[in-house]
Amino acid sequence: MSRRSIVAGNWKMNLDCAKAAELAQAVAGRHAEAGNVELVLCPPTAYLTTVGTALGLVHATSPSGVALGGQNMHDKSSGAFTGEVAPPMLVDVGCRFVILGHSERRTLFGETDGIVNAKTKAALAAGLTPIVCVGETLEEREANRTQAVVTTQINDSLAGLTPADVAKIVIAYEPVWAIGTGKVASPQQAQEVHALIRGLLASLASPAIADSVRIQYGGSVKPDNAAELAAQPDIDGALVGGASLKADDFLGIARAFA
Ligand code: 13P
Repeated sequence: MSRRSIVAGNWKMNLDCAKAAELAQAVAGRHAEAGNVELVLCPPTAYLTTVGTALGLVHATSPSGVALGGQNMHDKSSGAFTGEVAPPMLVDVGCRFVILGHSERRTLFGETDGIVNAKTKAALAAGLTPIVCVGETLEEREANRTQAVVTTQINDSLAGLTPADVAKIVIAYEPVWAIGTGKVASPQQAQEVHALIRGLLASLASPAIADSVRIQYGGSVKPDNAAELAAQPDIDGALVGGASLKADDFLGIARAFA
């Protein structure tokens, strides 16, 4: 089965409003360079509308071909949750995607697999495509616990999803030790975990569905290491942090997956 590659930029808590608009315009103007690769920009919540407008997703008749995603959301659709953003709100401002369970959410904001599971179900119910993140810490890798950790994260984050739901999601494997450190996983290390994840998806849904789900790699992806990652059979794109803040670098990575 040939899977359409997907490269997403996780801007995290960076840029300002003007720079966010400028970067979105630059990516939108050059998105054809990425060929058939699906491109997604995930700006800070405060700049979603700005970026959505730059991408032609808000009150525009011709969208740019670059999709918009949130970096997080609450699992309830409205209510007294000060400071949170609801799934329908993301949809309302033009998002089609939402990153869930990023390691920074898990480690800095106490998100458990149970919380990620509730959010994943809420995203699907709202019509968003969740990009569900998993990955082990350095300590866990060194203790040979990578497979066990990732298995639990996948099984518990996706618990109770129907096979049809599993077919709609994107997974991002982001080893925590590779995030923002400049230490990229070797293509073999990444491929090994991606193959494990695809096997888990086959058990949760079916082999055919597992074969269709895109699994991104994330963690210090740069234009000069993207090609060897893209060459791996189970790596279907990238979730890019630092390098997504420059249009040249982001598009360079996307081209490697084209
Ligand atoms: P870096 O690409 O900066 O390592 O960040 C990866 C990441 O966390 C993307 O979600």
